Amino acid sequence: MKKHIALVPGDGIGPDIVAEAVKVLDVVGKKFGHTFTYDTYLAGGCAIDATGKPLSEETLAGCSKSDSVLLGAVGGPKWDKVASDLRPEKALLGLRGGMGLFCNLRPAILYKQLADACPLKNEIVGEGLDIMVVRELTGGIYFGERGRDGDKAYDTMSYTTAEIERIVRKGFEIAQKRKKRLTSVDKANILNSSQLWREIVEHLASEYPDVAVNHLYVDNAAMQLVRNPRQFDVIVTENMFGDILSDEASQITGSIGMLPSASLRGDSFGMYEPIHGSAPDIAGMDIANPIATILSVAMMLRYSFSMESEAAAIEDSVSKVLDAGYRTADIYTESMKKVGTKEMGDLIAQAL
Ligand code: NAI
Ligand code: MG
Repeated sequence: MKKHIALVPGDGIGPDIVAEAVKVLDVVGKKFGHTFTYDTYLAGGCAIDATGKPLSEETLAGCSKSDSVLLGAVGGPKWDKVASDLRPEKALLGLRGGMGLFCNLRPAILYKQLADACPLKNEIVGEGLDIMVVRELTGGIYFGERGRDGDKAYDTMSYTTAEIERIVRKGFEIAQKRKKRLTSVDKANILNSSQLWREIVEHLASEYPDVAVNHLYVDNAAMQLVRNPRQFDVIVTENMFGDILSDEASQITGSIGMLPSASLRGDSFGMYEPIHGSAPDIAGMDIANPIATILSVAMMLRYSFSMESEAAAIEDSVSKVLDAGYRTADIYTESMKKVGTKEMGDLIAQAL
């Protein structure tokens, strides 16, 4: 197959980790007889420096016409003083919203080799912890009406029935292919948008009788994730709750540097990125963990290109390299072999 991929490396560690993911993708191409071609676009702080705007028409159009997008991360202290609507992070919202990517999948899988890097006790996480966070990505408080008015500032969380229904259906469909357990997370004891969310989940549940559904308030869900993470199979939730809970879930896997994500809209198109940010504190030091981005490429092969064997081959290679004891600094534990960003990418490419 021939596939054209838009690369948006972004800022900080973004370019370094995207380079390693492309290295792995090229090996997949050779091994399985596919041709991957690339165009690289600016977004975030680097785009502000070059064009004055975090997201140009050219980047959005280039990404939209590609078969899928691989994004690094955007932002950094250099642009912290920029006006709110021109901040680097606006590029993310512009890409997600502009391409209609409403469904964000964030699998949190604890590799057995990283049990020691997980801050929770072994008896709490058990073997093979695997949680899928399904986060709504183009609505809620990140997209609602906002403003600043003298000494008052506000953001609004709003959802329509249609927006909730399409993401909740995704949650049910994904649960059907897994352990058939769906936890819907909201704050229905306080928020109107959450009350509507809960009503819709209840209503749709009858269409998916094989899936066991429960509801948790988000504050309780945050607690349950560290108290008893094994109760979760699929979590479906609104934009900001999903953002926060998936960072929390990432720690169970040992490091935020391990978690990939896919942002989808229902056809084969998608944008793929690690869940972490641009990590300015370690940018340019060759110590960032590229695995989250490499696993994001595996998700791209699976969800956008229906290349299941190729995706599994990348995941196996990551597992083999961890088996062999190689670790970047963020997942390093005593007696393991410490490697940098490039070496980790090389090892995974070689394992393939
Ligand atoms: P962050 O995720 O960039 O970093 C949090 C901590 O995790 C840091 O100590 C960092 O060194 C570490 N870390 C992150 N990725 C890592 C990796 N691959 N390997 C090893 N360690 C890693 O979040 P932070 O510090 O809150 O934000 C930094 C910048 O990134 C901000 O400008 C923020 O707005 C932006 N950001 C961008 C995102 C995106 O582009 N999707 C998502 C989150 C934050
Ligand atoms: Mg986040």
